Amino acid sequence: MAISKLIDDRPDEAIFQIDRRLFSDPDVFEAELRYIFEATWNFIGLESQISKPNDFVTTNIGRHPILLMRGTDGKIGAFLNTCRHRGTIVCPFKQGRQKFHVCRYHGWAYDSNGRNVSITEEASGQYPRSFSNENHDLIPVARLGSYRGFIFASLSPDVPPIDDFLGDARTFLDLIVDQSDTGEVEFVPGASTYTFDGNWKLQFENGLDYYHFSTTHSSYVDILKKRNVSAGPEAGFTSEPEDEQEGQGSFSFDYGHAVNWSIKRTQLYGRPLGVDPARLEAVRQRVGNARAKWMLRQRNLTIFPNLQVIDILSAQVRTWRPVAPDKTEMVSHCLAPVGESTAARTLRIRNYEDFFNASGLASSDDNVMYEFCQTGYEATTAGPTQGYLRGAAGVSRGNSVHTRELGINPREWSFGAPSFGGEANFYPGYREWRRLMERAAQEAKV
Ligand code: FES
Ligand SMILES: [Fe+2]
Repeated sequence: MAISKLIDDRPDEAIFQIDRRLFSDPDVFEAELRYIFEATWNFIGLESQISKPNDFVTTNIGRHPILLMRGTDGKIGAFLNTCRHRGTIVCPFKQGRQKFHVCRYHGWAYDSNGRNVSITEEASGQYPRSFSNENHDLIPVARLGSYRGFIFASLSPDVPPIDDFLGDARTFLDLIVDQSDTGEVEFVPGASTYTFDGNWKLQFENGLDYYHFSTTHSSYVDILKKRNVSAGPEAGFTSEPEDEQEGQGSFSFDYGHAVNWSIKRTQLYGRPLGVDPARLEAVRQRVGNARAKWMLRQRNLTIFPNLQVIDILSAQVRTWRPVAPDKTEMVSHCLAPVGESTAARTLRIRNYEDFFNASGLASSDDNVMYEFCQTGYEATTAGPTQGYLRGAAGVSRGNSVHTRELGINPREWSFGAPSFGGEANFYPGYREWRRLMERAAQEAKV
């Protein structure tokens, strides 16, 4: 099977189809781990998670267990979390602070810079000379890069520099990070880890899918209506200038990234950044009117292949780890600018619990839909789904009033009515998927 051919992308004919095997075939899944996750940049953590020397967190890139540490010298390093002796994971914890990591099997020890500092009873002389000539340090990832406190790593050296990889998607990280006076973001303590019985690309698509909102989250929409009734008349719409046209849009970037966003007049006091008018004004002075306006707009950013950052009534960082063709592990964090007021942080946490958290009113709806899709994909004789053409007729290139406000040059953009919800913003991820598979095929790997 020529895996890259499973995506039929003919923009001139307005055809975009995906073979159902992309979501269920074990060979496709194996190729994805090897030639996508283990061959490109992955988000692995925030610098603020390891703010002090010897801090560490553990994560994964594809199948590879990863140990991300700040060395005693303050330098950040990411290593394969596997002992050089017989392969045991060196650090079995999620996070902490340790100067040394001692392997639990035979006691080899590594420092926080990844250097081997002790081999148990090496001096007793049982090792041959060939052993002494080998390097015993932890194996670093091939590439490590960071942007505004977001750390990325690649197991392959064959990747563009991190700034090129992120491209103008960086602007949407800036819009979050610049909400902090110190230019730093942090995770609110605690995280939810959960699995769903579906393919990881269901999460990838859903984070860019505004079309599903009113149906999948209808119970949440009903609750919002009831809350609005009990809240009484709205206390002014101040998040957007009066003449701004409400609507929804998306920008698509190179290397698989895309962002969905919406312009909606909402009550400022419902947003962490708007809850404290004096602070909002200070941010406005610092970043300018246009950026401050965009900070208050809903933005759902997807950085291919494993990161989504959403900034609405709260902010969320979602990452995923593909476990099997039909199983995905999710990790969800509440993201916050460092230094926000107590009122803003409280509102952020309450809104996060309400909507984003695994126990909230949204994530569980989505997870059920992923599992329904996964089951439906078993109907392999049904052919490709029709789920990739909504909005395809409205895709534009070049500049718009919105790209000019942000100073970005997306590959494609769309903007429509509040009911817009296009699906063409899935294309960049799938085009990057296909590029990486084609690259592997050229190297005769698949
Ligand atoms: S496997 Fe780590 S010391 Fe033996
Ligand atoms: Fe959803």
